[in-house]
Amino acid sequence: MRKLIAAMKISIDGKIEGPEGVADWVDGWSDDYGLIPQIDACVLGAGMYPGYEAYWSAIQSAEDEPVAMTGKVPTTAEVEWARFAVQTPHYVLSSTMKSALWPKTSFLRGHDDIAALKQKPGKDIYLVGGARTTASLIDAGLVDELRLIAYPLIAGKGKPFFTGTERRRRLELRKVQQLPGGRLSMMYGIG
Ligand SMILES: NC(=O)c1ccc[n+]([C@@H]2O[C@H](COP(=O)([O-])OP(=O)(O)OC[C@H]3O[C@@H](n4cnc5c(N)ncnc54)[C@H](OP(=O)(O)O)[C@@H]3O)[C@@H](O)[C@H]2O)c1
Repeated sequence: MRKLIAAMKISIDGKIEGPEGVADWVDGWSDDYGLIPQIDACVLGAGMYPGYEAYWSAIQSAEDEPVAMTGKVPTTAEVEWARFAVQTPHYVLSSTMKSALWPKTSFLRGHDDIAALKQKPGKDIYLVGGARTTASLIDAGLVDELRLIAYPLIAGKGKPFFTGTERRRRLELRKVQQLPGGRLSMMYGIG
């Protein structure tokens, strides 16, 4: 069965974004988790999908220009993700959304659809976020692996990652690695 791998960039106090709705402490949104070689599908919640689609569409259409949302020129690694994303099926978990700009985007209506996607043949699946979706899928026992990159920052106010999680789960630490800028990469198996 394909693994569903959740990955998230968090502050030390467990925030995934600040009060303005962005994680302004994150320099870039490339594949810092090393997932590209092992995945062939992405799952996203309806809350984050519109911003995600807009961000990566902007990079796909003008790789060398600053992205309006950040004012920054995309990094080489972000361009790599933009090129990968455009040709990779994306599945949006939503009870309401019916259309998306990207032709390779389709919709999942609940946990049964996620379970069915995991049963299909293919490589592993990247659960991109956001917080509510990831928490609900961990609670439902559908997430097999959690990759976190912790930033050396107490963010204070903002959106917590695990606020929607209801069940206790033990994690198995599989790999830990120090990254540039004082960041810590952690890979956990979820039992
Ligand atoms: N720091 C990071 O690494 C990182 C990574 C990714 C995202 N983010 C942040 O995460 C934020 C979005 O997170 P969020 O928690 O607000 O929203 P979200 O998890 O992206 O989306 C929540 C929505 O997904 C749908 N959904 C979730 N579970 C469902 C289920 N079991 N069945 C059917 N639909 C389900 C619902 O949409 P419907 O109402 O349509 O049913 C729900 O309102 C973004 O602002 C982004 O910045 C941060």
